[in-house]
Amino acid sequence: MRQWIDKLRATGELSREEWTALIEGRTPKLAEYLFAQAREVRHIHYGHDIYIRGLIEFTNYCKNDCLYCGIRKSNEKANRYRLSLEEIKDCCRAGYDLGFRTFVLQGGEDGYYTDERMEEIIRTIRSGYPDCAITLSVGEREHESYQRFFDAGADRYLLRHETYDAEHYGKLHPAGMTAEHRQNCLWDLKQIGYQVGTGFMVGSPFQTPENLADDMLFLKKLNPQMVGIGPFIPHHDTPFADRDAGTLELTLFMLGLIRLMLPRVLLPSTTALGTIDPKGRELGILAGANVVMPNLSPTDVRKDYALYDNKICTGDEAAECRMCMERRMKSIGYDVVVSRGDSLV
Ligand code: SAM
Ligand code: FES
Repeated sequence: MRQWIDKLRATGELSREEWTALIEGRTPKLAEYLFAQAREVRHIHYGHDIYIRGLIEFTNYCKNDCLYCGIRKSNEKANRYRLSLEEIKDCCRAGYDLGFRTFVLQGGEDGYYTDERMEEIIRTIRSGYPDCAITLSVGEREHESYQRFFDAGADRYLLRHETYDAEHYGKLHPAGMTAEHRQNCLWDLKQIGYQVGTGFMVGSPFQTPENLADDMLFLKKLNPQMVGIGPFIPHHDTPFADRDAGTLELTLFMLGLIRLMLPRVLLPSTTALGTIDPKGRELGILAGANVVMPNLSPTDVRKDYALYDNKICTGDEAAECRMCMERRMKSIGYDVVVSRGDSLV
């Protein structure tokens, strides 16, 4: 198996059969070997720097009904909120003072935020913070809308493909949502000129090693600037309430593989990873990740952006999260830096 890890490091590629066998046949010993290689590659390109992104969860209204997601349309128990432009500006101001130079605007697919409203938000942040990157994560939209947001000043877009395989995708989403449409959005975003982030959940219901192999092949083909992965975690008011969560062990292994396949990719150690294990985010960094995304949303709405159960940091002020993250990273020998943290890809 080490041969495949060596091959991956040398060539950045494996076949579907090799990916499947490597994922299926992983052992703790092999994982240690992988993580050492992944750290080496990460240190070559990014040293011991950790980039931070300020996450602003600006709406939890959503027209979609993804079976895994706590803010799905059918969850009538979700307490819905939207942030006003003023509230978003307040988040950015606080974030800037804390050293954030990237703001990530994430939300459900909320029709209230028309193209015009999104443009107003983007233009306002762009003019107030010319030295910051603006990342959007608002789901699937038309090419024209993506273009308008880009022209208004957005630089980056996060849209996880969730799972490459159409059949598996169909088991996680209601009729009408397709893997093909989501992937087309990613190609559109790339063509427009965004720095694009995609990714998937690890251990989502019905996921097989072959599905993960296909996810890796898709990542290779798309060659995104960022890849966000995290364990699936059940939410009690969704159809997947009783499913098992994805594991720390497999998520870390996938992070290491992604670092070797795409050496210069921006790779977050996600909140979901920190939720399934108290040291999850530190372990993610030690497996090859180089980004963390502390929350900048106002404290009074944080618990309502509940995609899954027991999400961490919901009671903490932005400043606390920021300092906590710095301490955590220092404890493993890494430094949070004040930087836009653009992709080298
Ligand atoms: N609406 C936008 C979109 O669809 O890309 C952004 C928000 S969406 C809630 C952000 C991500 O949360 C999804 O891409 C999904 O991978 C993740 N997510 C949703 N439910 C989850 C769960 N139960 N466990 C882990 N991750 C989840
Ligand atoms: Fe819309 Fe999850 S169902 S963000």
